[in-house]
Amino acid sequence: MCGIVGYIGARNVKDVVVGGLAKLEYRGYDSAGIAAIDGGNIKVVKSVGRLANLETKLETTELGGEAAIGHTRWATHGKPSDENAHPHQDCSGRFAIVHNGIVENYLSLREELMAAGHQFRSETDTEVVAHLIEELYNGDLFQTMIAVGKRIRGAYALVVLAKDHPEQIVAMRKSSPMIIGLGENENFVASDIPAILEYTRDIYIMEDGEMAVLTNSGVECFTFDGEPIHKEVYKVTWDAVSAERGGYPHFMLKEIHEQPKAVRDTLRGRVADDLSRVTLDDIHMDEAYTKKVDRIHIVACGTSWHAGLVGKAVIEQYARIPVDVEIASEYRYRSPIFSENTLVIVISQSGETADTLAALREVKQQGLRVLAITNVVGSSAAREADDVIVTWAGPEIAVASTKAYTTQLAALYLLAIHFAHVRGHLADAEVRELIEALDGLPAIAEQVLDTAPQLENFAARYVEATDAFFIGRGLDYSLSLEGALKLKEISYIHAEAYAAGELKHGTLALITEGVPVIALATQPQLYEKTVSNIVEVKARGAFVLGMTWVGNEDLEKSVDEVIYLPKTLPALAPLVAVIPMQLLSYYAAVARGNDVDKPRNLAKSVTVE
Ligand code: F6R
Repeated sequence: MCGIVGYIGARNVKDVVVGGLAKLEYRGYDSAGIAAIDGGNIKVVKSVGRLANLETKLETTELGGEAAIGHTRWATHGKPSDENAHPHQDCSGRFAIVHNGIVENYLSLREELMAAGHQFRSETDTEVVAHLIEELYNGDLFQTMIAVGKRIRGAYALVVLAKDHPEQIVAMRKSSPMIIGLGENENFVASDIPAILEYTRDIYIMEDGEMAVLTNSGVECFTFDGEPIHKEVYKVTWDAVSAERGGYPHFMLKEIHEQPKAVRDTLRGRVADDLSRVTLDDIHMDEAYTKKVDRIHIVACGTSWHAGLVGKAVIEQYARIPVDVEIASEYRYRSPIFSENTLVIVISQSGETADTLAALREVKQQGLRVLAITNVVGSSAAREADDVIVTWAGPEIAVASTKAYTTQLAALYLLAIHFAHVRGHLADAEVRELIEALDGLPAIAEQVLDTAPQLENFAARYVEATDAFFIGRGLDYSLSLEGALKLKEISYIHAEAYAAGELKHGTLALITEGVPVIALATQPQLYEKTVSNIVEVKARGAFVLGMTWVGNEDLEKSVDEVIYLPKTLPALAPLVAVIPMQLLSYYAAVARGNDVDKPRNLAKSVTVE
C-alpha cells in the first residue's frame, strides 16, 4: 500500500502534489518523493521518513514546471531509505515513475536488464519498471507503456513522466487502486480521492487493465492493448474527511472491510501457482534447519499474542513441534528454557512494541534464531530478526487491530503448513487441501462481512450492558480472548473470555439474568462439549449469541440468536469468526458514542514498557 499523486496543469505542481500526498499518508509513511519536469529536465526530490521530511527538503529546492508525480511509500521490497523512496528513474534520467503494488517478476527482469547494461540504485521492485521503460522506449511513451504492461506481472498502479513528453502523464492500473481527477485545463491522477478533492469532484475510477494519458486539456483512457474506452464521470458527493476513510465513518470499519484484500495480499506469491506447496521464499531457513527446530516460542503482546495462540494450535496440530506462546512483557523478565534449536517467533503489527523488541534482543543475545511476523517492512523487528514474514495488511490506522490480526493468522497458517510439509507430517494431498482452503479464505471473509446488520442490531440492544462474556473451546477459546479484548478496548464494556469448560470452576457465579454471552462453536470436534457449557449459562439467565458454521442449525436449540459463518476447515475458522466479533465491538462502540479509532488511554504503537 502506497500513495500516488500526479498533476498536469498550471498550478504550482509542488503544492498540488505534496498537498495530495499529505491526504494519502494513511496509505504509507516511511518515505516520500516528488518528480517534476522543470526546465526541460526531470528533477527528483525524495526523503526517507514522513512527508514532513520531504517538505523540509523542498523548502530549499526550486521545483516548477507543469507536470509532476509524487509518492508516499509503505515499504515492500527494500527498507525505507532515500534510495528506495519513489520516484525511481532509469539510467539516463529521462523517465520517472511512481508505483503502488508489487512487481512479482522483478528479479528476473532485473537480471535481464542488468545483463543489458542497466545499473540499479535501489533494492525496490519498482526500479525495474523505470529501466524497462528506457529499454523499450521507441519515441512514443504511450506505446512503450503498452509494451511494458506486457512484460510485468503482479499488482500495480503506475504513473510515468517522460522528459521528452512534458505535455503528458501516462498512468496504468492492475489490482492497485487508481482514480483520475478531471479539471479545467488541468488533470490529476491519484491512488485515492482525498488527494485531489480540493480541486475537483469529477472522477474516473480506473479499473484493472486500464490506462490513461493525461494532458492539461484532457484525459484519454485505453485498455492495456491500446483500445480507446469510454469512462463515465463519477461525481464525488462526500466531504473531504470521510473521503480519506474511503467513505467509511471510521478507519476501523474501513480496515475491517479491507481484510479480504489484506489476506489475499499476504498469501499472494507465497503458495505455488498449482497450490501444491507453500513457497515462503522470504524466510531463509533451509530444509536441514526446518527439520531441526525442536521447540518454538511465540512472543507478542495484545492482539498479536492472540494470533500467536492460534499459531500454537495449528503448528502443533500440523507440524507437531511443541510451541509456547508468551506475553512479551512476561517473557523478558523470566528465564525461559530453550534448546539450541529453539526458534523464537515474534509477532508485532508495528514491529516497534517495546516489550516485544526487548524479548527479541534478549533471545538474539542468547544466540537463538528469531523470525518476525510484522506489518512494517522497515520496523525494528523486521531489521533485527533473522527472518521476516511481512503481512501485507497496509497501514493500520485505527488503534484496535483488525486486519493485522487476520493477516498474522494467514502468515502463521503458511508457516505451519510449510513446517509440516518439509518435516513430512503432511502428505501432498493434505497440503493441497489446506492450501486450497487458505486460498478460499479471502472470498469467505468477504461473505462474512454480510453479518454486519445482525451485529449492529445486537450491539444496539446491549448498549447499556456492563459486562459480557466470550466462551469457547480450543481455537474458539483463543478467539474468545481476541473478541473480549476488542469489545473492552473500544466499547469500554467489561468483557471476559473463558475456556467454556472452565466456567463452572468459578466464573459461572457471574452469570445473571440477561448477561450477554458470545458463545463460539466453530470446532465440530468440540461442538457437543461447548453446547453443554452453553446450556449451563442459559440456565442461569444469560442471553446467548452463538456463532457456528452455516448449516449447523442444531445450535438454535441452545442459544437465543445465531451468527452463521461460511464453512471452512476448522483450523482456519478463527480467521473467519473474528470478523463478526470485530463488527460487534465496532457497533457497540459507535452505539455508546465512543471515539472508535482512538479509544481512551490507548496508543497505536506501544514503544514504552
Ligand atoms: C489491540 C491492539 C494491541 C496490539 C498490541 C501489540 O487491538 O492493537 O493489543 O496488538 O499493542 O502491538 P504490535 O502488534 O504492534 O506489537
